[in-house]
Amino acid sequence: MQVFSFCEYFGFLFVSYCLVNTKQNVREKIKNSDRFEVEYQWSYVNYTWKSREDYRNSVINKRYIPENNVISGVKFYKDKFYVALPRLRKGSPVTLAHVSRNARSITNPLLRPFPSWKMNARNDCATFQNVHSIEIDKKGIMWVLDGNRFNDYTSCPPKIVLLDLNKKGKVIQTYVVPNEVSMRDGGFLKDLVLDESDGGYAFITENSEQDPGIIVYSRFQNRAWKIRDRTMYSELENSNFSVDGVKNEKLISIDGIAMDPVDKTKPDGERLVYYSALSGNYVYAISNIILKNEQLCRSALWRRYIQKIGPKQGPTDGMIMDRQGNMYYGLLNLYGIAKWNNQKPFNTSIVMDTNQNTLVWPQSFTFDNSGFMYVLANGIHKFYDPHFPLHLSNDVKFRLLRIFTGTKSYLY
Ligand SMILES: *[C@@H]1O[C@H](CO)[C@@H](O)[C@H](O)[C@H]1NC(C)=O
Ligand SMILES: *[C@@H]1O[C@H](CO)[C@@H](O)[C@H](O)[C@H]1NC(C)=O
Ligand SMILES: *[C@@H]1O[C@H](CO)[C@@H](O)[C@H](O)[C@H]1NC(C)=O
Repeated sequence: MQVFSFCEYFGFLFVSYCLVNTKQNVREKIKNSDRFEVEYQWSYVNYTWKSREDYRNSVINKRYIPENNVISGVKFYKDKFYVALPRLRKGSPVTLAHVSRNARSITNPLLRPFPSWKMNARNDCATFQNVHSIEIDKKGIMWVLDGNRFNDYTSCPPKIVLLDLNKKGKVIQTYVVPNEVSMRDGGFLKDLVLDESDGGYAFITENSEQDPGIIVYSRFQNRAWKIRDRTMYSELENSNFSVDGVKNEKLISIDGIAMDPVDKTKPDGERLVYYSALSGNYVYAISNIILKNEQLCRSALWRRYIQKIGPKQGPTDGMIMDRQGNMYYGLLNLYGIAKWNNQKPFNTSIVMDTNQNTLVWPQSFTFDNSGFMYVLANGIHKFYDPHFPLHLSNDVKFRLLRIFTGTKSYLY
């Protein structure tokens, strides 16, 4: 008599008790599911405007064109999902925002510009211009990659900005990325992982056409260097694939990045950093100790430490590792998510779930603090293709999906 629901029959008498109980039942069900379930979904992105007036004016003067706004990176911290919104098309007024985990509706919840509307102003090099990805460290510092510079929505140089989420998003450090590391015109800081050792490092994939590579940013030194290798370029034979009827033939370089969790048995703190070109099936890895050594990175010697991990089942955008060394990564052509444990050979990797309707271009992963993992599927390739017509309709364009894994991210 497992869920003979006392609440279903007598709930009207015990409203508050039964509300809690029902919520828990839903949670239990989701815990036992081996499929990804929708947490939030959007047919277009809308914001918490300053006033009705402001909203109206923005629509009229096309500062806001709803169907052109796209969500890319997502990271969870203290009951909120923080999201990056790259300016890929006109009419995208916000590039960094958040939404509560407890929003009233699962469909089209409004996004709140973060830290403020002011910090999302365009054409001001001190504010966020074009953010693609974020990561949040254990202390609640958000590392923001304001480095999408392959279109002309800003002429500001790329930058890495650190915000303190426990101080309302106060800016605590800014690094303006020099042109020789990522180009002001054409550069693309795509995704990142954080290493909190030795004052803190970000390892960043630079996905530009002209100069792909891995950028190492030292928070302590407030400086950056870059390594480049042919393993960071796309593979010609894996560049032809279609997602949701839209063909990709572009050669898209290094994109996804993941990192081993801290291993306390290793006194030198060594961890591998995994990477893969988007139109490429191979996963490669390199040690964080090599990356942190600027001198070595400036020599040619570092290349001998690249490890070939293995071939994936298809092309991948985002990936992430949990604290148990499970790597999760999207499979664009299969509308799926795969899982591999770093203690095993790569050919033990399994496809956890596929869904042609919902897992359309899985791009970004995050973990909450109750054992759920989330993936954002956003069909972003349609936004990149300037000829793809975007329409305002009830069709869902972006989904934040979740599954119970019982773990936390590689940072914990
Ligand atoms: C967008 O959000 C505002 C509230 O901030 C609301 O007044 C407006 O109707 C919304 N527009 C659409 C198209 O949903
Ligand atoms: C991709 O496929 C098309 C035909 O479907 C072909 O013309 C093109 O050369 C292919 N491109 C690559 C890079 O293999
Ligand atoms: C997986 O790779 C290992 C070597 O790393 C090999 O011994 C094993 O046969 C492979 N398994 C499969 C199913 O291909």
